Amino acid sequence: MSAGNGSGWALVTGASSGLGVEFARLLAARGRNLVLVARSVEALETLAAELTAAHRVAVRVAALDLSQPDAAIELKRRTDGLGLRVDTLINNAGFGVHGEFVEADSRRLQQMLDVNVSALTQLARLYGEDMRRRGDGRMLLVASLLGFMASPVYAAYAATKAYVLSLGEALHDELAPHGVTVTVLAPGLTDTAFTRTAGHEASATLKLMLMQPRPVAEAGLRALDDGRACVVPGVLNKLSAWSTRITPRAMHRRIMQALLA
Ligand SMILES: NC(=O)c1ccc[n+]([C@@H]2O[C@H](COP(=O)([O-])OP(=O)(O)OC[C@H]3O[C@@H](n4cnc5c(N)ncnc54)[C@H](OP(=O)(O)O)[C@@H]3O)[C@@H](O)[C@H]2O)c1
Repeated sequence: MSAGNGSGWALVTGASSGLGVEFARLLAARGRNLVLVARSVEALETLAAELTAAHRVAVRVAALDLSQPDAAIELKRRTDGLGLRVDTLINNAGFGVHGEFVEADSRRLQQMLDVNVSALTQLARLYGEDMRRRGDGRMLLVASLLGFMASPVYAAYAATKAYVLSLGEALHDELAPHGVTVTVLAPGLTDTAFTRTAGHEASATLKLMLMQPRPVAEAGLRALDDGRACVVPGVLNKLSAWSTRITPRAMHRRIMQALLA
């Protein structure tokens, strides 16, 4: 990363693929300067070149493994060192582990907790403190539709997203009086590298709910603009989330197990 200018920056984690790329494109189209974070440095550099050329914004690349201890502290140290004032945090990086819980690679499970929960929390904590002090800032936390319901075969992943949903909605209320907007985006199945990374071949039934990443990212940014606590993009996904309020929890689990197998 090289030094930045005086205006605010939007930081997008998981910007090398899928939803993160779309968040970055949409923010760049709004004229926002960007910090792009992920491990795949080539993909980040390619996106940075595309956005700089198309929108004349400043883009910095931070190659970082967010599963490493203190990765969030290291990222904050880098952006502070460059004098970048991050006023928008898109806490998007994450991945799933599909299959029987007790058969999962335990190191992979731990990395998932480190990225989806620990790094996301520490980033919200570190950048949130600055935002509250300035009385201005915006944070989008990417959860999942699975955060609304216990989901066999995605058991630990769904639990990480229940955490993100709960954290984000609580922070929405804590930080709103200080001028900071916190919004949770809870997507359903979206056409990214997610299922491949998770080791999951989605069924034809599940694919009926598939959304493209662009409208999902747009829904997240729109909800952030509108100051909402949470948004579930897509009519079918909205219906699924809503149905969890009126149906027994055991029924959600059985439906999710059948749908996600
Ligand atoms: N697609 C879906 O169906 C779906 C549904 C609900 C929620 N979500 C959530 O949406 C978010 C974005 O996922 P996606 O669908 O866009 O999947 P994706 O295409 O696989 O993108 C995941 C992003 O996370 C980054 N990432 C993963 N591990 C990382 C690590 N250790 N350090 C730094 N970055 C890391 C990846 O970058 P590198 O590999 O380059 O590091 C990549 O940029 C995730 O939080 C996911 O849980 C997705």
